[in-house]
Amino acid sequence: MSGSLRAVVVGTGMIGAVHAAAIRSAGGILAGAVASTPERSAQVAKEWDVPARYPDFDAVLADESVTVVHLCTPNALHVPQAEAALRAGKHVICEKPLATSAADAERLTQLAERAGLLLAVPFVYRYHPLVREIRERRLRGEFGAWQLIHGSYLQDWLLAEDATSWRVDPAEGGPSRAFADIGSHWCDLVEWVAGVRFTELTARIGTTFADRPTEDVAAVLLRTEDGVLGTLTVSQVSAGRKNRLWFELDGADGSAVFDQENPETAWLGAQDGARILVRDPQHGSAEQRRLSRLPAGHAQGYADCFNSFVTDAYTAIEGGSPEGLPTGADGLRSARLVEAVLRSACSLGWTDVDGPVLNHESQEAPV
Ligand SMILES: NC(=O)c1ccc[n+]([C@@H]2O[C@H](COP(=O)([O-])OP(=O)(O)OC[C@H]3O[C@@H](n4cnc5c(N)ncnc54)[C@H](O)[C@@H]3O)[C@@H](O)[C@H]2O)c1
Repeated sequence: MSGSLRAVVVGTGMIGAVHAAAIRSAGGILAGAVASTPERSAQVAKEWDVPARYPDFDAVLADESVTVVHLCTPNALHVPQAEAALRAGKHVICEKPLATSAADAERLTQLAERAGLLLAVPFVYRYHPLVREIRERRLRGEFGAWQLIHGSYLQDWLLAEDATSWRVDPAEGGPSRAFADIGSHWCDLVEWVAGVRFTELTARIGTTFADRPTEDVAAVLLRTEDGVLGTLTVSQVSAGRKNRLWFELDGADGSAVFDQENPETAWLGAQDGARILVRDPQHGSAEQRRLSRLPAGHAQGYADCFNSFVTDAYTAIEGGSPEGLPTGADGLRSARLVEAVLRSACSLGWTDVDGPVLNHESQEAPV
């Protein structure tokens, strides 16, 4: 499978290298790499052992043999590059956030649909086998009706006053940083696993150093379409936390917890006791088994998620319908949540995620 599918990685930083490995793992041909300058592109091509045939992005667009481009560039480049690639007839795997505005995300999604091309967005935490296991148990009704949804995504890379990157600059990163960068992952994962849709939210955002133009922390109170409350704490200044995406889903008949930093186990709670579930391809749901790449007890993790995600994206390009592949529609959904957070942080009121700003402060409390 995918033996003749030729892929190019655009943006060769941290995640570009992860994509390059995933392309090869998925059986695709890593046809080239485009970095920020022709010189750097040539250097990376050497490091990645690919021919140095693409000095820039235009050269990729002009090459009809390229099937799919993987956009791993800073956020503000996603829309122009994805649009150009789709118009050139390429399938696109575009890093999150798909766009820095919901309007742009919608336009891209429609463009891909009209062109009949795949637009996939790497919300890869969906690819942890135990995430699939919790989702399958939810689909079987094991947890009952949700009572409460809560969690956090915490990092610490911006703790020092002089810490910075392109992500901090709204011109390159977009108007939201911490929420769009990592809160977006949490929302995508929890909505998908729990089978809920957050329809309204109220958010507060904060910045630890005055000269930082985008938020370091966000506290979000959410409400699903069924009126279930959720809370999400997002931070890039929590000392000792690296990629601590954690959620708890509390249902009438049971609870489930997943911690991205310990993805080989999940916690299942019942009133008369709790147990730890261990990833095991010999047990559990079909999707847990499908995405288990190693035997139980031999740890797999983030890179395996990427490998599985790219494998599924290529299956979709070849006409298949793999379960749970995050696409442009999910990138658009995420962009709407980001805008709702920013609107609410300004209005200090409840905000409708899919529509105009709602201000509940003049109304009765919603719960
Ligand atoms: N899905 C995930 O789990 C995940 C994880 C990390 C990053 N990301 C996303 O991936 C993207 C890149 O993040 P990163 O951590 O790799 O950042 P990075 O800074 O490590 O890499 C970005 C690279 O893009 C290059 N670049 C800049 N302008 C370019 C241009 N015009 N053409 C080609 N290359 C250009 C930069 O030189 C840099 O090497 C971001 O959008 C980020 O949100 C997603």
